[in-house]
Amino acid sequence: MTTLGTPLTPQSTKVMLLGAGELGKEVLIALQRLGVETIAVDRYDHAPGQQVAHHARTIAMSDPEQLRTLIEAERPHLVVPEIEAIATPVLEQLEAQGTVRVIPTARAARLTMDREGIRVLAAQTLGLPTSPYRFCDSQAELQAAIDAGIGYPCIVKPVMSSSGKGQSKIDGPADVQKAWDYAMAGGRVSHGRVIVEGFVDFDYEITLLTVRSLGPEGTAVTSFCEPIGHVQVNGDYVESWQPQPMAARALERAKAIAQAVTDNLGGQGVFGVELFVKDDQVWFSEVSPRPHDTGLVTLCTQHQSEFELHARAILGLPVDTSLRNPGASAVIYGGVEAVGIVFDGVDEALRVPGTDLRLFGKPESFAKRRMGVALARADDVETARANAKLAAGKVRPRVMR
Ligand SMILES: Nc1ncnc2c1ncn2[C@@H]1O[C@H](COP(=O)(O)OP(=O)(O)OP(=O)(O)O)[C@@H](O)[C@H]1O
Ligand SMILES: [Mg+2]
Repeated sequence: MTTLGTPLTPQSTKVMLLGAGELGKEVLIALQRLGVETIAVDRYDHAPGQQVAHHARTIAMSDPEQLRTLIEAERPHLVVPEIEAIATPVLEQLEAQGTVRVIPTARAARLTMDREGIRVLAAQTLGLPTSPYRFCDSQAELQAAIDAGIGYPCIVKPVMSSSGKGQSKIDGPADVQKAWDYAMAGGRVSHGRVIVEGFVDFDYEITLLTVRSLGPEGTAVTSFCEPIGHVQVNGDYVESWQPQPMAARALERAKAIAQAVTDNLGGQGVFGVELFVKDDQVWFSEVSPRPHDTGLVTLCTQHQSEFELHARAILGLPVDTSLRNPGASAVIYGGVEAVGIVFDGVDEALRVPGTDLRLFGKPESFAKRRMGVALARADDVETARANAKLAAGKVRPRVMR
């Protein structure tokens, strides 16, 4: 049985989001609707989620002392990581002491915060198919790994990075130095370790949103959303759609891989399992133990968006992962570098049939910062993709003079 409280009273059910970007904002809205008291934490003031939470806190979440002090002061029932760059050892200690419950588990947060933990788990412990890979600590090691079997083309990524930062493709020996230097400049913490992966020549890639919730007996139940197809440019998502049609055999394999990974990570909540598909073959790429950016599309396609699913699952409530209608999302980038930009053409965008928008409210725009997303529902994915892109293109961020 789940009992929920009343916010801002001693009987409140308190949830703390570590990271309050556009994904956290939607989770916070879903929690607010269930009468949960929310605390939105980010490294800068007025982050999107802080604008819709009961309480806003600004700290460096990668600093163990700041993180511990805040959690001990606020005493939330649940701590929900929304980003990877968190001092996860503190979460493991507080969870072990029984001070808080971490979503899905502190171990899952630690294993997925760098590429090494999750890749070793998936490929070695679980024996799942992945691209061939090696970890390297110098350019010489990188060259040796490529020569010893990874081969060309391959992809180099800092072990600590997201959204494609520091990631590049190597087509031949002439690209190695540039890729190494780029990885060193783009990693989150400059400890100089990279993963080099053989290039998987996939037909398409998907996010399989996988939900671990509680069944009536209190045991974990796994449910899958319809596969989400997406396009990445330089390692950052620009477009997604649902459902991505798949051969029955490939879908079966995708679910088996997602089940194996999420069974191992445990806990409750949404996982974004990233997979590459070629014919009937499926490779595991990585997993987010939280809603996934490509899953923004579920705001217009499912009865319960991935954010509502996450809110329900972490609170021990039942979930419904069914599709309502096909749809698509298209990212709106800032284009300009400024604080407090304005958006022209919102009316024209919303005149495109079946569309909706999310403008995240980020205080500062960068050229390649995701500032919003256009959503489109339609009878088929092709129409939805065309309309989402059309609507996104009509929104024109600019500097107010
Ligand atoms: N081994 C590979 N072979 C082919 N393409 C790849 C490979 N690894 C990554 N990619 C491409 O680059 C994209 C980003 O890679 P990955 O998901 O590992 O990086 P990321 O920085 O974690 O991105 P995000 O945080 O947006 O998920 C993938 O979605 C895929 O399109
Ligand atoms: Mg990824």
